[in-house]
Amino acid sequence: MTSESLDNLKKAAAFRAVEFVRDGMVIGLGTGSTAKHLLAAIGEQVRAGRKVRGVPTSQETAALARESGIPLIDTEDRWEIDVAIDGADQVDPDFNLIKGGGGALLKEKIVAASAKHFIVMVDYTKQVSVLGGSFPLPIEVVPFGWGSTAREIEALTKGRVVLRNRNGVPFKTEAGHLIVDVHIDRIDRPGELETALNLIPGVVETGLFVGRTNTLIVGTPQGVHIFHVPRK
Ligand code: A5P
Repeated sequence: MTSESLDNLKKAAAFRAVEFVRDGMVIGLGTGSTAKHLLAAIGEQVRAGRKVRGVPTSQETAALARESGIPLIDTEDRWEIDVAIDGADQVDPDFNLIKGGGGALLKEKIVAASAKHFIVMVDYTKQVSVLGGSFPLPIEVVPFGWGSTAREIEALTKGRVVLRNRNGVPFKTEAGHLIVDVHIDRIDRPGELETALNLIPGVVETGLFVGRTNTLIVGTPQGVHIFHVPRK
């Protein structure tokens, strides 16, 4: 499948996600190429008179939301998010995710955690039987002593840790942290791994989103499939 056709599947999923948006809602706005389609679609609704406000999960998303005419709320204030809508890098059969390919995982997780409803939009190639393998797990770490933090992550996961670079220099997140991408063959118990990683000093947040998805929207060549995850 070409990247253009995959992008069309992301767009189809994003267009279905917009059906969950209602007047008066505060919406958590995800980051990435799928979220870009979402912002365009919400922008269209706003121009048609829909009254919503957004909480952006990155500066990139904030800029796109402004371009699309979506009003944003002050992100340093207390908020009540009705629905957060975001993409993902991998989804397993229990609707657990790996996110953070774009480096926005910290804000994405804060927003997903505080939303009443979390909707995930993906193209079908992101669905995997077990997390890990082809996609490394992004982990946001404090720059101070990051090498020791990486060693502890390596010892825990038995994975290979690679410091994320952009244009030859370490990638810095919007919060000024680093990202290490951890190559792990398979993540059989994502919940346990997420908890254990969060106990390592220096780890700010991980790209594992466990038990957070309420609705999964998958764009496939046969059409868009929507799964509602029962609350545990
Ligand atoms: C951003 O940090 C990520 O979590 C994205 O949500 C994820 O990488 C999905 O990106 P695409 O929609 O571009 O595939």
